Amino acid sequence: MNEGDYVIGTSLGEKIDFSHKALTVIELDLSKDQSIVDCAKVVTELGRGIDIHINNAGVLLDDGNLNINIEKLRHTLQINLIGVIDLTQRIIPLMSAGAHIVNISSTAGILSKVYYPDYPVYKISKAALNMFTTYLSTKLQGKIAVSSVHPGRVRTSMGNGEGDMDPEEAAEYIYTTAKTKNIETGQFWFKGEKIPW
Ligand SMILES: NC(=O)c1ccc[n+]([C@@H]2O[C@H](COP(=O)([O-])OP(=O)(O)OC[C@H]3O[C@@H](n4cnc5c(N)ncnc54)[C@H](OP(=O)(O)O)[C@@H]3O)[C@@H](O)[C@H]2O)c1
Repeated sequence: MNEGDYVIGTSLGEKIDFSHKALTVIELDLSKDQSIVDCAKVVTELGRGIDIHINNAGVLLDDGNLNINIEKLRHTLQINLIGVIDLTQRIIPLMSAGAHIVNISSTAGILSKVYYPDYPVYKISKAALNMFTTYLSTKLQGKIAVSSVHPGRVRTSMGNGEGDMDPEEAAEYIYTTAKTKNIETGQFWFKGEKIPW
């Protein structure tokens, strides 16, 4: 963070174990329409312009079954895609020219190469999220930049602590990309390099 930065974060509702005078945390459950409406209302009422909006929340709910579990697909798409789109559309009016929307995606969503055969539900959600990135980048061309970012294989609860990167390291790359001035819009990034869709 730079001096003067102000961060608005969200939480599913569990108590978070840190605070900062330049941080406001708002409850948000992307699986619930009303929660998205309420969250956007609180952000609006804070009355601060938004320079960077990062859609980081996501779930990986796949099981190992051959068939795609429709309930898990529905729930995943609500959180990883539909909720993200709904919240983002409500935040865009608060964003100034030159702002940046960053969708935390995954190489799992790459259409041109299937890296591994599992996690179809998660992959479908991230491929669709990438389309939201490219669609929105075209719509907001010349006003607000829109990017997808792959964070890397990060040691978080999503991968049961496995990976080759600590969350702090991934966050650093994401922040560096997010604050890059005049970044080429509509691209997919990993560690500051463009990667294919
Ligand atoms: N870890 C990896 O190797 C990896 C690789 C590629 C992409 N990604 C992507 O990176 C992002 C962060 O994942 P992570 O690794 O940090 O996973 P994580 O440890 O499981 O964290 C998931 C985050 O999503 C939030 N979340 C879950 N369900 C939500 C809901 N219904 N409404 C609002 N927020 C919700 C959680 O909020 P709370 O903190 O409030 O629980 C948490 O902050 C995800 O988009 C993921 O797909 C991760």
